[in-house]
Amino acid sequence: MRSLFPVTDETADQGPGADRQWTLDELADRYAYPVDRADSATEAKGSASASSSPAPSPAASPTPSPASSSASPSAAPGPAPRPWLRANMVSSLDGAAQHDGRSQPISCAADMRIFGTLRGLADVVLVGAETVRKEGYRPARAREAFADRRRAAGQTPAPAVAVISAGLDLDFSAPLFTSPLTPTLILTGEKAREDRKKEAEQAGARVVVAGEGRGVDPARAVAALAGLGLTRLLTEGGPRILGQFIAAGVLDELCLTLSPMVTSGEAQRIADGPGIAVPKRFSLASLLEEEGFLFTRYRRT
Ligand SMILES: NC(=O)c1ccc[n+]([C@@H]2O[C@H](COP(=O)([O-])OP(=O)(O)OC[C@H]3O[C@@H](n4cnc5c(N)ncnc54)[C@H](OP(=O)(O)O)[C@@H]3O)[C@@H](O)[C@H]2O)c1
Repeated sequence: MRSLFPVTDETADQGPGADRQWTLDELADRYAYPVDRADSATEAKGSASASSSPAPSPAASPTPSPASSSASPSAAPGPAPRPWLRANMVSSLDGAAQHDGRSQPISCAADMRIFGTLRGLADVVLVGAETVRKEGYRPARAREAFADRRRAAGQTPAPAVAVISAGLDLDFSAPLFTSPLTPTLILTGEKAREDRKKEAEQAGARVVVAGEGRGVDPARAVAALAGLGLTRLLTEGGPRILGQFIAAGVLDELCLTLSPMVTSGEAQRIADGPGIAVPKRFSLASLLEEEGFLFTRYRRT
């Protein structure tokens, strides 16, 4: 893997070693969440307290939340960081976000290492219910490579997964809900079916209400998670969820893998949903390359 931006000595080095595999530690350094996130935690916590559901039973509560850990940076004196929402997506050259209903055919091993690294850095992974159903989501794993880093940051051994759903047509007997290391969250609306919310909680999930109707308001979801002390946010899509985060103006960063493949067909783009009046400008923060795959990292300007 080579760093094409920022340009380093290794970029120019065409000798043996220029294409060596980066360690997970090197990738984690490259993709670390910004430390200079401005303080808007007070604002975030204020709106989140109104949006979360009543306190769940202790069995359903994430334990410990990063905010409640004594090792958490947010427990230290001084302002807490504001939430930072990053998305991680892969696209073919012609803009497809999936092939045969899954992203795996347009991905590669290096993409999966970055996928794992981004999870290793996150407090919580937000994902749309359709991606959970289509990709057969399982709980996030605790990985030794990130253990020290997570402990130092006051994070649980693995990120929580937060499933965004209005209909709650989810298999609550699946390991994602019954046996995660960090309890799975369900982000839904006030008017979502009460019986399904109860079933989710009985399975061990924590239901977080972040919308007035059946669905979730994206900005309110971000605030609700920040209110739980979860500020390093990662969304893995899918396109309908990402489209809503973009339209709501809450996406801070896009980690986009450009896959050197073309698919044609009718696949979705990586963002699929409400448009915005004026295209938003992002700036390039990092560009890695391996075997023709480009691993981009763009930040909102
Ligand atoms: N290329 C990539 O990087 C990438 C990444 C992820 C996924 N994918 C692919 O994308 C496809 C799935 O994406 P998708 O766009 O169809 O679905 P999605 O965004 O994963 O999920 C859509 C579902 O999320 C829920 N939802 C959406 N907006 C909501 C809101 N405001 N409030 C509450 N719930 C809301 C609804 O669930 P309910 O129906 O339960 O209400 C909706 O059916 C799959 O083929 C997957 O392989 C690709």
